[in-house]
Amino acid sequence: MINLAVFVSGRGSNLRALYEKFVADEKSPEIKFVVSNKSDCPALDFAREKGIQTSVVSKKTSSRVTSFADLAETFNESGISLIVLAGFLKRIPAVFIDEFKGKIINIHPALLPKYGGKGMYGMNVHRAVFESGDKISGATVHFVDKIYDHGRIIKQRTIPIDDAGSPEEIAERVLEIEHKLLPEVVLTVAEKLNSELHNE
Ligand code: GRF
Repeated sequence: MINLAVFVSGRGSNLRALYEKFVADEKSPEIKFVVSNKSDCPALDFAREKGIQTSVVSKKTSSRVTSFADLAETFNESGISLIVLAGFLKRIPAVFIDEFKGKIINIHPALLPKYGGKGMYGMNVHRAVFESGDKISGATVHFVDKIYDHGRIIKQRTIPIDDAGSPEEIAERVLEIEHKLLPEVVLTVAEKLNSELHNE
């Protein structure tokens, strides 16, 4: 099956959900790399603990920090076929997006195209949803293009929030469905990429 790179910036609960779903199954995609823009975050700790190769990426490079250009080279050399943004809060350079066109997906904690775009991340999203009075929220997995939260939607899952008493409560409910939706979509996209690779 194909090799994955997962990009993270913080808690890493979606990374954990992917890992737990895929680790025991040889036919599942394999998480080969975990990349973060922060040198210190729980998601990176988790990856290190599991023996997954990690990289810290930034515009300012050093011996410990890599650039997107170097990352692209490494991914091509090590046969990374799919990149999953799971809570990655840094903008991805356009050249990198071009290089991995159709191979980068992102999970967003709302029903896009609503509540997406610049500044719409983390609790900002759930606060906006709470204030809107919407009765449902959910999660979206989509391909990444050069505009924030804009690429083609692959799959969404909804959750009722009409009785939610706070943005935090909405966040909790949405996160629970993210952990099911993301591995499911990654598997579907990976299977498609895998069959394309073998029919080339
Ligand atoms: C998730 O809500 C995801 O949808 C968003 O960032 C959050 C990351 O959470 N893009 P975690 O780091 O996976 O726990």
